[in-house]
Amino acid sequence: MLQLSVFITGGSSGLGLELAKLYKAKGYRVGICARREDVLQKLAQDYSFETFVVDVSKRAEVLSAIAKFSEKGLDIVIANAGKSYENKTRLPNFQTARELIDINLLGVLNTFEAALERMLQQKSGHLVAISSIAALNGLPGVSAYSATKAAVGKICESFSLDLKNENINVTCVYPGFIDTPLTQKTPHPMPSMISVEEAAKKVYEGVKKKKLRVFFPFKFTLMVRLLSVLPRRVYLKIMSMKRFNYSVED
Ligand SMILES: NC(=O)c1ccc[n+]([C@@H]2O[C@H](COP(=O)([O-])OP(=O)(O)OC[C@H]3O[C@@H](n4cnc5c(N)ncnc54)[C@H](OP(=O)(O)O)[C@@H]3O)[C@@H](O)[C@H]2O)c1
Repeated sequence: MLQLSVFITGGSSGLGLELAKLYKAKGYRVGICARREDVLQKLAQDYSFETFVVDVSKRAEVLSAIAKFSEKGLDIVIANAGKSYENKTRLPNFQTARELIDINLLGVLNTFEAALERMLQQKSGHLVAISSIAALNGLPGVSAYSATKAAVGKICESFSLDLKNENINVTCVYPGFIDTPLTQKTPHPMPSMISVEEAAKKVYEGVKKKKLRVFFPFKFTLMVRLLSVLPRRVYLKIMSMKRFNYSVED
């Protein structure tokens, strides 16, 4: 039987790595990419992943790696590589904002463009992006993170319409807090945090069911979704409360 294949960006740690292990255990051929070559070399040895040193914000690097991996087919691509603010700053940090747009937004576009080169030819495939529950509201101190994740959600929604007749599915994942190296650096409280193993299983199940949108964990997501439908005046009043402001000085 033909082996299914998945390519995951940002597979060297956190959710990406856990997804890579899960898909491998399910019998998939797994390709991962990230920037840290030494980490990728070790993972290639330990798990037999096909590894590629790629910065997702560099279009040519992404196109070349995914084209190489796709020579033997490509069933699923997961645009997971991402970055957040380490500290929320009181005033907008424009340098970090540009970096987040390059990685979290252009990185997803580069990944989808590269995957579609193959998927449109074969008339099948599944595009997956890891957004965030932070996409649903403009949160204090992390404007560009919320903005890039919201943009990714809209791109997925549009692509699911555009690619319907090409037999290509699209899934956008909106996780709450997950225990990964990214959140281990975060100093503010993170309610309802779940393990990376649990998060990877939720992503896997949502993709398997070909859902357009996957939200988890349930209770936290419900609360944030309620905030997103409040009149903005009320939302701003709530979020102006001191308890939600974790900004530090520049
Ligand atoms: N953790 C959470 O609570 C949470 C919640 C919602 C959404 N998310 C999203 O989930 C995704 C994974 O996050 P995580 O928590 O697993 O973070 P993580 O442990 O910091 O992993 C991030 C991964 O992305 C890679 N990466 C970062 N910048 C890259 C670039 N320019 N090019 C290629 N690879 C790059 C990193 O590898 P290298 O450093 O080796 O490049 C690493 O493998 C992100 O999109 C994040 O926004 C996370």
